[in-house]
Amino acid sequence: MLLILLLLKLLLLFKYEHISRIVKKIYNKNSSVSLFKNEYVFKIVLVGDTCVGKSCLLLRFSDDVFTENYTTTIGVDFRFKTMMVNDKLTKIQIWDTAGQERYRSITTAYYRGAAAICVCFDITNRESFNNLEMWFDEVGKYTDNDVDKIVLANKCDLENERKVKKDEVDNFEKEHDIKIMNVSAKTGDGIENAFKFIVEKLIKKK
Ligand code: GTP
Ligand code: MG
Repeated sequence: MLLILLLLKLLLLFKYEHISRIVKKIYNKNSSVSLFKNEYVFKIVLVGDTCVGKSCLLLRFSDDVFTENYTTTIGVDFRFKTMMVNDKLTKIQIWDTAGQERYRSITTAYYRGAAAICVCFDITNRESFNNLEMWFDEVGKYTDNDVDKIVLANKCDLENERKVKKDEVDNFEKEHDIKIMNVSAKTGDGIENAFKFIVEKLIKKK
């Protein structure tokens, strides 16, 4: 029995070393990051009007997929994503919330404990831009004051259908002192950058 246990332990140890070496190679050749132990874990919540593309952004970022078919989110959904940011292995827990008002009492419960909130709008949907301030108020009610906020301007692949002028976006950014980043869940443009930007900010705060 003792022998079997010893053999099992050796096997596990070998596997750990083996996997460890492979993952280190993938992430960073000279990394001294200890495996299976994320250096940082952050909770990030996506909010914004219905149909702006929150779920698509999440799925593009986590699974690298996109669909034109619209299925409204009921309540919340979430994914994990691990990234190397400034040599730090970072695990992000991303919560996707329903934009429809009828789910508001459920979704706001998930804002708690968030390190950052991504408020999303759709550049082809004027109302979703007009509602940004409403979302800031909503976030303010259910999160700590020091929660980081960023705005994601989604569907930037639909430049021809743009309903929110670039000038307006720039003014909003200055007025509210908030970073607005152009993204497209369809093409994947800007998404990795946006999350990297947030995580870098969060790491700096630590
Ligand atoms: P709720 O769950 O109701 O809050 O909506 P949502 O914000 O999660 O929207 P969702 O991600 O389901 O996307 C809504 C529609 O927009 C879908 O038909 C998507 O295919 C489309 N869509 C999302 N992102 C993009 C994008 O970047 N470009 C284009 N062209 N279409 C997009
Ligand atoms: Mg959704």
